[in-house]
Amino acid sequence: MQKTLSLFDSTIGKKAVMALTGLVLLGFVIGHMLGNLQVYLGADALDGYAHKLRTLGPLLWGVRGVLLLALLLHGWMVVDLYARSATARPISYRVYNTVATNYAAKAMWLSGVVILLFVVYHLAHFTYPGLSMSSNYAHDAHGKVYQNVVNGFRVPWVSGVYLLAQVFLGMHIFHGAWSVLQTLGVSHPSYNIRLRGFARTLAVIIVVGNCSIPMAVLAGLVK
Ligand code: HEM
Repeated sequence: MQKTLSLFDSTIGKKAVMALTGLVLLGFVIGHMLGNLQVYLGADALDGYAHKLRTLGPLLWGVRGVLLLALLLHGWMVVDLYARSATARPISYRVYNTVATNYAAKAMWLSGVVILLFVVYHLAHFTYPGLSMSSNYAHDAHGKVYQNVVNGFRVPWVSGVYLLAQVFLGMHIFHGAWSVLQTLGVSHPSYNIRLRGFARTLAVIIVVGNCSIPMAVLAGLVK
């Protein structure tokens, strides 16, 4: 019996799933950055915002579930597409000319793995077990987001880890936003330069916004 090729089984279907889940994760990164930037409005604003999110209860868990699903699907599609291209050409090209594509693909792998490791570290830092939380207020440390952020980033090497991770995040968002546009067919020689500019600007805004927080703490502007 001939197997019908469903959209999900096809390379284009997998690329579409990767693009869609990437957009969901990008939406989270932008929303999370905007939320975190409230650190500049003071402790009441940031803690109040975190408290409001917690009162969403089941809705918050729903959003977390969607994010986790998006992350798993995103990773699965990457591994699957890679395995597919490796089996399609088990013997590598003698002369490999697609230097730019090759570089972008390698950059996506490397930055993707670094971001994954960063998220694990970040959750251990601020969420569970909450390494940055002072034992002085451990009984309600989860509500003191502002103080946790200041405590965490006061340690220079910890801020260094965050700053480095943001560079990889920026790289991933730049290449990712650009290739999403290609997958969705938004591509034309007359406006490709502007599209690349858009992807670059988006990545720079996210890197600068995120990096500003540990830097402001280290500089003593947020204390
Ligand atoms: C310097 C930039 C960042 C700061 C200051 C920051 C800060 C925080 C803080 C304080 C929390 C805990 C919030 C709470 O307890 O209510 C948190 C949670 C989290 N952060 Fe970040 N974050 C940053 C960047 C990122 C990035 C780049 C990612 C992903 C790529 C990320 C992913 C997460 C996730 C998944 C959670 C858990 C959210 C939840 O509880 O549902 N963060 N972040």
